[in-house]
Amino acid sequence: MANDYLKEHILLRHKDNPNIGDIDEYLSDGGYEGLKKALEEMQPAEVIEAVKASGLRGRGGAGFPTGVKWSFIPKGAKDVYIVVNADESEPGTFKDRELMEYNPHLVIEGAAIAAYAVGARTIYIYGRGEFKGPFVTLQKAVDQAYERGMLGKNIMGSDYSLDLHLHLGAGAYICGEETALLNSLEGYRGYPRSRPPFPAVEGLYAKPTVINNVETMANVPGIIRHGVEWYRQFGTEKSAGTKVFSLSGHVNRPGNYELPLGVPIRYLIEELGGGVPNGKRVKAVLPAGESSLMVPEDKLDTPMDYESMGAIGSMLGSASFIVMDETVDIVWAAEKMIHFFKHESCGKCSPCREGTYWLSNVYHRIRSGEGTMEDIELLPKIIEQMSGNTFCPLGEFATSPVKASLLHFRHEYEQYIKK
Ligand SMILES: Cc1cc2nc3c(=O)[nH]c(=O)nc-3n(C[C@H](O)[C@H](O)[C@H](O)COP(=O)(O)O)c2cc1C
Ligand code: SF4
Repeated sequence: MANDYLKEHILLRHKDNPNIGDIDEYLSDGGYEGLKKALEEMQPAEVIEAVKASGLRGRGGAGFPTGVKWSFIPKGAKDVYIVVNADESEPGTFKDRELMEYNPHLVIEGAAIAAYAVGARTIYIYGRGEFKGPFVTLQKAVDQAYERGMLGKNIMGSDYSLDLHLHLGAGAYICGEETALLNSLEGYRGYPRSRPPFPAVEGLYAKPTVINNVETMANVPGIIRHGVEWYRQFGTEKSAGTKVFSLSGHVNRPGNYELPLGVPIRYLIEELGGGVPNGKRVKAVLPAGESSLMVPEDKLDTPMDYESMGAIGSMLGSASFIVMDETVDIVWAAEKMIHFFKHESCGKCSPCREGTYWLSNVYHRIRSGEGTMEDIELLPKIIEQMSGNTFCPLGEFATSPVKASLLHFRHEYEQYIKK
């Protein structure tokens, strides 16, 4: 039993079978059966239909339906690419790394099925610059897959050929944004591109491209191997499947936990994470790293799925839950988050470049004891000018710590001024 909600792990299968990173063990566990089934029994369009029907939504943050995304690739297009987003730069998110290091064939198999579905001949896995270690492990798995004929010419005895390359960026948060990632992969500066055209029409090297997160790809083999009904037994109607939740911060047992979507936050923190150290209370939780609006303690019974998290004014995003206990100074935490966004802003557009700079200055004033009540009023004015005016969502993400901390913990700002 993986936990109260899941008999055995699906994505984090290595927790039940530690040697699954090796291709022989992966094969004896039913690995590559999904790819075999797709190649031998299904037309590419049928694979897309199955992924659509499964209800799988992208695990990179936005939760966009994966099968629908695949169906945007123009029919009969030549030189289609698959790009796997392994940038994983959101603070507190470390699920993709674990998947690539411990269950790499699941990711490779998922990407290979995706490639077959959209008619791609080349897959790139783009990792953040700091992923040198995980990419060594992943490369070994890729080499094994080539040796066994799961990649290369005429894979698994079919007439379909497929190559997979790994590429490391230089380590920038913005390169997780899909169009900045494409620029970086092409060797340019990691600036986001304007859309349209969307990557499905003009992506890598201006060719139709599907970009999916590592965990999204890891969901695909199970859907094809076991079928849509099997997949839909996990999760909720609109948020199907299981999800890896990265848990960190003030918890006794931080780590990655796999659960069906829709389990309450409280279960993750208290049962799996062993609660807050020293019997302290939770003050707030960041459910999707720093890009999400923090959730106060009274919302811990909210189910962790896309709709429910949205309904409380936050989001599920990459599901990286950072717990802050009652001792955390929220103004300090918000300042740290703004510092992060200021540092990671690519500088292309002024609302984000200047906005994060001014926010950072105001926080510095307040925290150093030189702030005034007017400064508290200034913060929402700055984020109002940023919201809806930035070139990419990073600028929008940067407003989250300010918005949520003022909404739930305004009194902590006022205390700073009064002190
Ligand atoms: C600033 C920014 C950073 C992002 N970082 C990541 C990331 O590290 N990994 C990721 O998979 N998606 C990231 N995304 C989302 C991607 O742009 C894209 O939506 C995702 O890779 C699509 O895959 P999915 O449909 O499988 O979720 C980021 C988006 C933004 C705006
Ligand atoms: S919002 Fe920020 S990260 Fe995005 S393009 Fe503008 S400056 Fe760059």
